[in-house]
Amino acid sequence: MNYRYYLPTDILFGPGVLDRLHEKPLPGRHALVVTTSGKSVKRLGYLDRLRRELTLSGVGYTLYDKVCPNPTRDNVMEGAALARQAGCDFLVALGGGSAIDAAKGMAVMAVNDGDCWDYVRDGSGKGLPLKEKPLPLVAIPTTAGTGSEADAGCVISYPERKEKVSFGTPWSFPAISVVDPELMCSVPPRLTAYQGFDVLFHVVECYISRAATPLSDLICLDAARRVVTFLPRAVAQGDDMEARTEMAWASTEAGMCLTHSSLTAQHSLEHSLSGFYPELTHGAGLILISRAYLRRCAGQEAYRERMTALAQAMGAEPSPQGVLDALEKLMTRCGVAELRMSQFGITRESLGAVAEKSVDRRYANERAPLSREEAQAILEQSYA
Ligand SMILES: [Fe+2]
Repeated sequence: MNYRYYLPTDILFGPGVLDRLHEKPLPGRHALVVTTSGKSVKRLGYLDRLRRELTLSGVGYTLYDKVCPNPTRDNVMEGAALARQAGCDFLVALGGGSAIDAAKGMAVMAVNDGDCWDYVRDGSGKGLPLKEKPLPLVAIPTTAGTGSEADAGCVISYPERKEKVSFGTPWSFPAISVVDPELMCSVPPRLTAYQGFDVLFHVVECYISRAATPLSDLICLDAARRVVTFLPRAVAQGDDMEARTEMAWASTEAGMCLTHSSLTAQHSLEHSLSGFYPELTHGAGLILISRAYLRRCAGQEAYRERMTALAQAMGAEPSPQGVLDALEKLMTRCGVAELRMSQFGITRESLGAVAEKSVDRRYANERAPLSREEAQAILEQSYA
């Protein structure tokens, strides 16, 4: 085993912790504050609370509030241009994974010339080396989903090319993450479920991945147990602070797993699917694919031991089939068992192209090699 432990983010965790941000030295004097184009961070007063913290810290800011739900290359380039123009020396992302991921991209492009697809390594990206380290970032998640607060990854879409790719750099860890479960209480039930399943699949994939490490093994099983126990409660009652806190920690744990292990082809397939169909929410896409994907894993000897341990952590019979049973039960309890691809406008005819475009570095993390044909079969079995 060759392994490097590296997680340089200062994580402040707990209900109400946003109001203590000013007690921390911030990594700059003028921030680009990045939020999504939705109204919720303003309406719920989160942006005002952040402004107060920045003022108390003596830090100026410029607001970029146009990030789309699936952040795009245009978002990244526009925000980066604004950061340059306003003389920003760090960024603060307030919002879900979209705001944080977009800000990670902007942090790179605020100090590197050219286009962000010059540096992207997947899809049609040129994979050029960065000349400058990204600006530092403070991440303040308002959802329990991507784990972007504890990893260096970000996912950016290029709609004109139907591409949705990972654009992490070794320097893209947030300098500070403020994980305040109070900010997550207003997420509606359906989105809470989608985001919670994203957390689950991060840890399921990182656990069965060939890239798993002793640390990710510990954290993955712990996070899987938390999701199974607390996600149905967070979906049923949004202001259940214990459930929100447990889910916030599970999401952060999942981010750590993304750092100490790596995802598998299920995420590649979903990124390709929502690259083709940008209206498809990431978590919903994963839910749609997951039964067929995990059924394939459950049927292969290479995954038997890991699937058995996962089933146990998820409170099911200790067998590979136990993971599928626990998954079905969780979907039912969270009200997402009946999702269908056709509801999102996905056509069966497009699945070959989706499978083709999904093949990326994560396929190498499968314990039994997954061919493009098998990947297409997973999508076709998932279609209804
Ligand atoms: Fe994900």
